[in-house]
Formats: sequence, structure tokens, C-alpha cells
Amino acid sequence: MAEREVIDEQDRGWRAAARRYMPLVLGILLIGSLGALLYSASSASRDHQRALAEQQRSWEIMALARAFEAKTARAEVTLARYVISLDPDTGRLFQDQWRTAASQLKSLTYATRKSDWQRGNVRALQAAFEQRGKTLSEIGLRTTYDQKMGALAQFHQAGRSQDIKRLTALIDLVIQAENARLRERSLAVSLAGDRTELVGKTSRMVGLALLVCVLFALWLVNAAYTERRNARRMAEMEAERADRLEEAVSARTSELSDAYEQLKRESAERAAAEDNLRQMQKMDAVGQLTGGIAHDFNNMLAVVVGGLELAKRKLRLKPAEAGHHLDNAMEGANRAAALTRRLLAFARSEPLLPNAVDPDSLLRGMADLVDRTIGDQIIVSFAHKASGWRIFVDQHQMENALLNLCVNARDAMEGRGKLTISTGQAQLAANQIGECPAGDYVTVCVTDNGCGMTAEVAARVFEPFFTTKPVGKGTGLGLSQIFGFVRQSQGEIRIESELGTGTSVHIYLPRRILTEQEAAAEAPASEQLHTLHPPTRILVVEDDPRVLNQTMAALAELGHLPIACDHPSKAAKLLSNNADIGLIMSDVLMPDMTGPEMIRTLPAHMRHLPVLFVTGFTGDATDSDDFRGHEVLRKPYTLNALGLALSNALSGSNHPGTAAAAE
Ligand SMILES: Nc1ncnc2c1ncn2[C@@H]1O[C@H](COP(=O)(O)OP(=O)(O)OP(=O)(O)O)[C@@H](O)[C@H]1O
Ligand SMILES: [Mg+2]
Repeated sequence: MAEREVIDEQDRGWRAAARRYMPLVLGILLIGSLGALLYSASSASRDHQRALAEQQRSWEIMALARAFEAKTARAEVTLARYVISLDPDTGRLFQDQWRTAASQLKSLTYATRKSDWQRGNVRALQAAFEQRGKTLSEIGLRTTYDQKMGALAQFHQAGRSQDIKRLTALIDLVIQAENARLRERSLAVSLAGDRTELVGKTSRMVGLALLVCVLFALWLVNAAYTERRNARRMAEMEAERADRLEEAVSARTSELSDAYEQLKRESAERAAAEDNLRQMQKMDAVGQLTGGIAHDFNNMLAVVVGGLELAKRKLRLKPAEAGHHLDNAMEGANRAAALTRRLLAFARSEPLLPNAVDPDSLLRGMADLVDRTIGDQIIVSFAHKASGWRIFVDQHQMENALLNLCVNARDAMEGRGKLTISTGQAQLAANQIGECPAGDYVTVCVTDNGCGMTAEVAARVFEPFFTTKPVGKGTGLGLSQIFGFVRQSQGEIRIESELGTGTSVHIYLPRRILTEQEAAAEAPASEQLHTLHPPTRILVVEDDPRVLNQTMAALAELGHLPIACDHPSKAAKLLSNNADIGLIMSDVLMPDMTGPEMIRTLPAHMRHLPVLFVTGFTGDATDSDDFRGHEVLRKPYTLNALGLALSNALSGSNHPGTAAAAE
């Protein structure tokens, strides 16, 4: 396109240049040819004139030659008459005539002075004329002296002499030579005439061409003038249009800037309104959360307090009943612990303790729990299709997430319906699901045929505190907690839901290929759990005196020998004073120093001791790297869980996650 425009532009340029210079070139050509024509016309006319003049001269020479011949012939006749009549007048006449012939010969000589071809002839003619003149003068002289007879005889002899013949022949020669010249000159005259005529014709033609050229030049001038006028008109129109466009653009620009200002105002108002709304929602959510937690906690505390009170009363008289009440109190406390754990998980403050887990075994282990949680009216079916693929997750969190999904499904089905929990294998391409890199994934899918969700609800389900359930029933933390956990485990979660039909939640978790160590650790795990260790001296580092007392009591109950340490800075000294300490059990968050920091600052020879960290809330102060190589136990814990964790720590099994928490 652009190339064509460039070519058109060049074309127009050429045309304009041709129009500008064409008349000039044509004018120069015409003037040149006119000059050449004039020059050749004048030279042709000169040639013609010259040829005519030369022809004239030939005529004159021939006439002179003829006149000379006639005069000499007449003089000879006069001399004859004089010889016969002896009349002196006739003699004088002869003299006159001969002189006239001589002067004619002179004229002839003069006339032929430039004719090379006649010079010889004329010289010979002069010689012959002089010779003849001598002969005739002698005859005339004899006659004058009355020697008539002698003169007659001489005249008779002279009439037959060679002189006269030679003279006549020479005159003929002159005339013939001039005749030949005359023919040439006549030819030259006719040629010059032809040339003149040709020049004339050419001049007429050139004149005609000149006329045509003048007309053409006039047409060109007119066309150029029209074109320039049109171009000027177009330019004026363009300028007018540009002015109009500029006006329109500036009008539109001001309209747009007004609209932009308006939009900015509106968006600022909207942002303020949204901020307000968000703040209100937050407050609402905090209210809901607080209400929900307070309500649940009160319920649980009621169970604990009521149970403990009853147990205290019945302790002496009815110890069996007291045991039952204590169990109830324990149940309430466990539920409270589960609630705090959910809150911590939502805040993502609880470090994950991942482990290679077989999802199918995990589901099998949960079957009873699920059945108990969702009630009799819901038919649960399991599909175990992970076929041995493992995932690397915090088992406790995974169970929690699945249980949450089952509870959501139960609520959506209002206690009646069909729930399917299935595992499977999937090979994903990069970014096929969310930002998951390409690879093998285990899918865990929980499907119900409940009420489903509207698009608005589906869009907000992962928001913390978002719930459609009444106060006290739901906190809106379930799915946001699951989302956080799945993302922390390098997985993805997707929800498919149709209003009135049901919901299906898909969790994608990367497949874990077991390391040799993990494979080895898996087999004897069950044995390890049951390993019993002899009483061990244990240094208990805990800043809260009540928790310290409770821990000391629990350790004593398990048959160990605890030493209390109420501040991490005292640990090193106690360790050096008690060389038989076999394990350090430390809280994580303490004033001045965290548990892992304390371990790092111990002298090198003490750092080989097994460590059991006990953590309630870890917050930002810790990183899961701090626990690497050490056993971790979550607070609150049961005696069993404590025993298991101690056993693991003492056996040197760094198997994070095996420490069961209280439920
Ligand atoms: N299976 C489901 N079918 C229909 N709606 C669901 C389902 N799962 C979740 N929802 C909707 O998503 C909302 C948020 O769920 P989420 O689990 O985060 O909180 P919750 O169940 O309301 O409260 P919590 O789980 O803390 O007890 C629910 O209130 C419900 O409206
Ligand atoms: Mg829920």
C-alpha cells in the first residue's frame, strides 16, 4: 500500500516537472529549428542568387563571344568591300569595326578573368585575333597604297588561310566551354530552386508545428493553472475540515475529561462506600466469629466445668460415675482444643507437619468418624482410586479438611442425601488447574446432592468468615482454612456447584514418590509406636508455671523424672548440673527466647540431646525449618499423645506429624 503511494507520488512529481519544463524545451527546440531554417533559407537563396549570377555571366560571355565573332566577320566583309571599292570610308569603317572587335575581345577577356577553364581559350583567341588582325591590316595597307591586285590576291589567300578557321574554331571553343558551364549552372540554379522550395515547405511545416506547440503550451498552462486552482481549493477545504475536526476533538476531549472527573468522583465515592461496607462486613464477621466462638466455648466449658463438678462430688462415693463425668469433661475440653486449632489453621499460624500419606488409607481410617459426624440419613460411599499414590501433607489437617467438607455437605443436604468421597489419579499439564506445575496429582473429591450454591455464594466461599449459616452454626472459616491448607501443600482446590443439584469439591495434591528413608520408616512405624522407654530424666522448659506443673505431673505419671526450668536462659546451667538428662522438652514461644533459639545457643556437647517441642501457637516467630530433626507435639495433648511423642523423640525417630494431638 505504502509502496504504491510512493510510486504515485513519484509519478505526480514527474508529471508536474514535465508540465513545467515541456513548454520551455519545446520553445527552445522550435526557436532552434526556426533559426536553422532561416539560416538554410538564406544560404539556399544565396546559392540560388550565385547560380543565377553565374548563369547570367555565361550568357553574357556567350553573347560577347557571338558579338565578337559577328564583328570580326563584319570587319572582314568590310575589308573585302574596301579592297574592291577602294573607298577610304569603307577602309575607316573596317578599322573601326576591327577596333570594336578588339574591344569586344577585351571585354570577353575581362568577363572570363575568373573562369579558369576559359583562360587558355581566350589567350589563344587573342593570339589568333592579333595574328588575323596583322594579316588584315597588311591587306588594308596594300589597298590604301593602291596595290589593289596584290591586296585582292592577299585577301583571297587570307580568306582561305588557317587563321580565320582557327579564330572561328577558338570562338566556338569558347562558346562550347561556356555552354557546358551554362548547363552545369542551370542545374545548380534548378537545385538551388528546389532547395529553396524545400526550405519553404519545411518552414510552413515548422510554422504549423509551432502553431500546434503554441496551442499545446497554452493547453498545458491552462491545465496547470486549473490544477493549481483545484489544489488550492482542496487545501482550503482540508484546512477547513482540520479546523472542524480540531474543534470536535477539543469539544469531545473536554466532554471526556468532564466524564473522567465525574468517574473519578464516583469511583472515590464508591471506594469509600466499599471501604465502609468492608469495614461493616469485617465488624459483622468479627461479631459473628466472636459470638460463635464464645457460644461454642461456653458450651464446651459448661460441659467441662459441669463434668468436673459432678466428678468431684461423686469421687468418694461413686468413683465409677465420677469417671464417667470426667470423660464428659475431657470430651468438652477436646472439642475446645479442636476449635482453637481451627482458628490457628485459619490464621495459617500453625506450622504444617507434613508426612507421606496414603490418601486411601487415610479415608478408610476416617470412615467411622464421617459416619458419626453426618448422621444416619445420609448415604456415604467411598471410591478409593489413588492406587498407592502418596501425598505429602499434614495428616491431621487433611483429615480436618475432609471432615469440614463432609460437614458442609451434610448442612447442604439438610441431613438427607448422598455423599461420595473419592480419590483418584490425575496427570496435569502446567497451569491446567490454577498455577499447578505439570506433574502427577492425587485428587480427592467430595460430592453431595444438596442445595448447591448460587454464583454469588460460589464466588465468595473461600473468603474467611463468609457463611450463609445462622450465628452459632457456622463461622465461615471452614473453606478458607481448607484453601489455605491446600495452597500450603502446593495443591489446588476447585468447586463445581449447581443450585438445586449439588456440589462437588475437588482437591488436587502433588503426588509424593517415597524416599528410601520414608519407605523404611513406614514399615516399622507400628512397632515404634509401641516402644516403651525406661524412666528418663527430662528437662522441662516452660515459662507458664501452671502448664509447667501440669507437664511435670504428666511426665511423672508416665514414669519419667522431670526437672523444671521456668526460663530458657536457665536451661544450659541445669543441663550442666544434671549430666543424666536424657531429653529436653521445651515450649516454643517464651519470653526473651523461643525454644528453637534456646537449643541453638546451647553448648555443642549438649545439642545432641533429643528434643521434644510443645507448641500451642507458633505465630510468626517460628519457621517450620526450626523444628527440622526434632519431634513436635501440639498443645493441648493427651497423656497418650505425650507418651508417643516422648517415645518417638527418645527413639531418634524424627517423624513429624506422628505426634497425635488431642481431639
Ligand atoms: N457442599 C456445599 N453445598 C452448598 N453450599 C456450601 C457447601 N459448602 C459450603 N457451602 C457454602 O459456603 C459457605 C462457607 O462455607 P465454610 O465451610 O467456609 O463455612 P461454614 O460452613 O458456613 O462455617 P464453618 O465451616 O466454619 O462451620 C457456607 O456457609 C455455605 O453457604
Ligand atoms: Mg463449613
